[in-house]
Amino acid sequence: MSNPFDKIIGYEPIRKELERTADALKNTEKYARLGTSAPKGLLLHGEPGVGKTLMATCLIEASTRKAFVCRKDMPEREFIEYIRTVFEQAESEAPSIVFLDDLDKFANGDEDHRNSVEYVTVQTCIDNIRSSDVFVLATANSLENMPSSLLRTGRFDRDIEINPPSGEDAVNIVRHYLKGKSFVAEADAEAVAGIMAGLSCADLETAVNKAGLLAGYENSETITLRHLILGCMDIAYSVSPDSIIQGAKTRDAQLAAYHEAGHALVSEIICPGSVSAICIFDNNGSASGVTSYVSDVSGKITEVGDVIDKITRSMGGLAGTKHKFGIKDIGAERDLISARYDISRLISDNAAFGFFFKQAHYDASAEMLSRMEQIAADKVEECYSRAERIISENDGFFEAIAKELLKKGLLVAKDIKRIRRKNPTYETFLSHQAV
Ligand SMILES: Nc1ncnc2c1ncn2[C@@H]1O[C@H](COP(=O)(O)OP(=O)(O)OP(=O)(O)O)[C@@H](O)[C@H]1O
Ligand SMILES: [Mg+2]
Repeated sequence: MSNPFDKIIGYEPIRKELERTADALKNTEKYARLGTSAPKGLLLHGEPGVGKTLMATCLIEASTRKAFVCRKDMPEREFIEYIRTVFEQAESEAPSIVFLDDLDKFANGDEDHRNSVEYVTVQTCIDNIRSSDVFVLATANSLENMPSSLLRTGRFDRDIEINPPSGEDAVNIVRHYLKGKSFVAEADAEAVAGIMAGLSCADLETAVNKAGLLAGYENSETITLRHLILGCMDIAYSVSPDSIIQGAKTRDAQLAAYHEAGHALVSEIICPGSVSAICIFDNNGSASGVTSYVSDVSGKITEVGDVIDKITRSMGGLAGTKHKFGIKDIGAERDLISARYDISRLISDNAAFGFFFKQAHYDASAEMLSRMEQIAADKVEECYSRAERIISENDGFFEAIAKELLKKGLLVAKDIKRIRRKNPTYETFLSHQAV
């Protein structure tokens, strides 16, 4: 018999835990002999599309228990009654499972609903079935607006956060969606997963499908890497394939191209192979750009230097236009927000540049706040200077990226690799200690 958990790709540690839970629910006698009682409840939470419902249904199937599903798809008054009925039915058919899918949507979303009648009802129902062998399984996007009393141990013994897939998991999920589609070599799954880093499984699936639609519309026999990258750009950055600008000569297209080339160059010098794609596109009549990295460094930050590298990369855009045109362009708001966020966390959460005993901004003194602000501004300025120096040293590589980007509108990792081979690179400012 096939294992229901085989439907889950990746997420090995979570899958293992779900397998153990299913075993405990299925073979209660085995555990009872050891004097152990069956687990009572599990809450899976995480962003939309990361596989919570899939994991819950695999657990239900593997447990072989009858499940009573409760989703909010009816008016409030009927729903309260429905919740009670579901719990009653589950109790009368115990051992069983009550599956509360999207529990955080049970109450109205437009007000503070922590004390809503829906949550109170769920809580009462859980307490009422406590002595029965009913396992309460729930999924939710966010726990923020749910009452802590409902989430406490005893009601849900365990909560597991499901994050978007990353690394090998993301590549294997993309491979899975590519299966059965014409073409796509091994390396391409990695390219797609790279661009889509941080997004959900549902997004990966949609991007691959978009690529197929594009290929079909172009009467292409196969889905090419270009189709895949365009599908990803659409899902990950809302850049529609039709908006990519090719061969543009306008001033704003040039600014956008050199800005993105700055990000890409700095990223490639600090970490070769770290850029997955760059594009410039028409954004309601003016040119914009996106540089996408192989993986979101923020997930792997282990030391201060990693954050400094990330901020330097964010500053690469501004430094690129300054280097080429002698001006700082005004399209860098997102970069500055990202740099500010990173440096603030580094200073206040990790005391990376000195110990601040009141860490949270809301309870810091005005003097401490201004000290933190000053350190933050100085560090971002240093990162900007470092980005400028990296670009100056690698001017040939930088120019070549920008020129090809202007011509083609979209460059992928292997284009950058090829350009790099033709241009010498220097790494004097590689170490963040040079900052
Ligand atoms: N690990 C995975 N392996 C294979 N497919 C997956 C995985 N995770 C999710 N999927 C697929 O992605 C899609 C979305 O998954 P699912 O509906 O379970 O997400 P969710 O977290 O419940 O989303 P929501 O919060 O919107 O309810 C489904 O088609 C599902 O089969
Ligand atoms: Mg779901």
